[in-house]
Amino acid sequence: MEKVRIGVIGLGGMGQEHMKSIKELPEAELTCVSDIDGEMTKKICGDYKVPGFTDYGKLLESNLVDAVLVATPHYSHPEIGIAAMEQGCHCLSEKPIAVSVKEADKFVETSEKNKVVFGVMYQQRALPEIRLAREIIKSGRLGEIRRTCMVQPNYRNQAYYDSAGWRATWKGEGGGVLINQSPHGIDLFLLLGGLPSKVVAKVRTRLHRIEVEDEATALLEYPNGAWGYYYTTTNEAPPAAFMEISGDKGKLVYHDGSLKFYSLKESIPEFTFSAKEMWESPEVIEEKLELPECETGHKEIIKNFCRSILDGEMLIAPGEEGLWTVEFMNAVILSGRKNKAVDIPVDREEYEGLLDNLKKSSQEKTVKETKRVTDPRFK
Ligand SMILES: NC(=O)c1ccc[n+]([C@@H]2O[C@H](COP(=O)([O-])OP(=O)(O)OC[C@H]3O[C@@H](n4cnc5c(N)ncnc54)[C@H](O)[C@@H]3O)[C@@H](O)[C@H]2O)c1
Repeated sequence: MEKVRIGVIGLGGMGQEHMKSIKELPEAELTCVSDIDGEMTKKICGDYKVPGFTDYGKLLESNLVDAVLVATPHYSHPEIGIAAMEQGCHCLSEKPIAVSVKEADKFVETSEKNKVVFGVMYQQRALPEIRLAREIIKSGRLGEIRRTCMVQPNYRNQAYYDSAGWRATWKGEGGGVLINQSPHGIDLFLLLGGLPSKVVAKVRTRLHRIEVEDEATALLEYPNGAWGYYYTTTNEAPPAAFMEISGDKGKLVYHDGSLKFYSLKESIPEFTFSAKEMWESPEVIEEKLELPECETGHKEIIKNFCRSILDGEMLIAPGEEGLWTVEFMNAVILSGRKNKAVDIPVDREEYEGLLDNLKKSSQEKTVKETKRVTDPRFK
């Protein structure tokens, strides 16, 4: 195989961006598309001169694809991805891989059973600062992680929430800021800081006229006893993410795209008991960081996915790691809704039960005009 033949499923804001990337990549060929909206499918087929299907099942039967890129609303990611994998197709899923851990498990298990390449669109993993932060942690220069923090404010107005029937509903989207705006930040937080084992959270709808949460906060506990803090919202501007990962040999600070690494001459546990003077503290060095030169963005994740299929290149964002974010989001929602501490791995049946009840309470939403435009700032 010289090029991966890709079918894009879901031709909204994000699907259309991905089609542009595929057209620019020598490793990929856009061979067909699918959207349940017939008008949209027809228009895209005309623009890109490829066959289109309103039923993704027909796309899978067409023999036109080696892989699919799924850019539909959240609930359908595992349904479509699993159907594709069962036909032997590789799958790149938009984030999150699923709304619930139970569905995410099935998605991961199907990829393993069918031995297909499974990627998830966590393009922020490709940022040079994040690649470097991973290296620093892997090299042991941070030491054992003792504390984490992520404060991740986003902003969305009511017009955004009113732009599609599925948005910000339990039935259509399966959550609010946690499931839609925050997965990228949560993914980076878990990638660098690890997955907590216990969560005590609060969730609420503070400002918008929506049924899902637009604000969440959580205290975290990790398997090694480290503590952490997490906050997210869609009610705050500017939307600058702040993350700290503190180890016993140093501290990583990531703020709005810039990375700092403070290393300690002696580790905190050693220094604490060897220091003789009352006010002594460990010596701190702010290290000069050299960012790697690398490609970033959605296109890089698609290219890496194709190279993984063609040459076995290691995935930047493997689908099975997409399960971490779902664990975290589900734990925060479950803890906040039930007002209790929740363990990770999340109890699959308990979360499914909560989600079923929330879906039953979900109101039908009338939308004046559906808009399919992706955030121009979010590459
Ligand atoms: N990675 C990123 O940077 C990023 C940015 C924005 C959105 N997203 C994700 O992309 C996905 C889509 O978001 P969007 O903003 O493009 O939404 P959108 O509403 O603009 O588009 C979704 C499209 O999917 C179609 N669709 C729905 N069900 C379908 C089905 N069963 N088969 C085929 N098509 C179907 C809809 O008709 C619509 O055209 C979401 O998961 C979202 O979280 C990712």
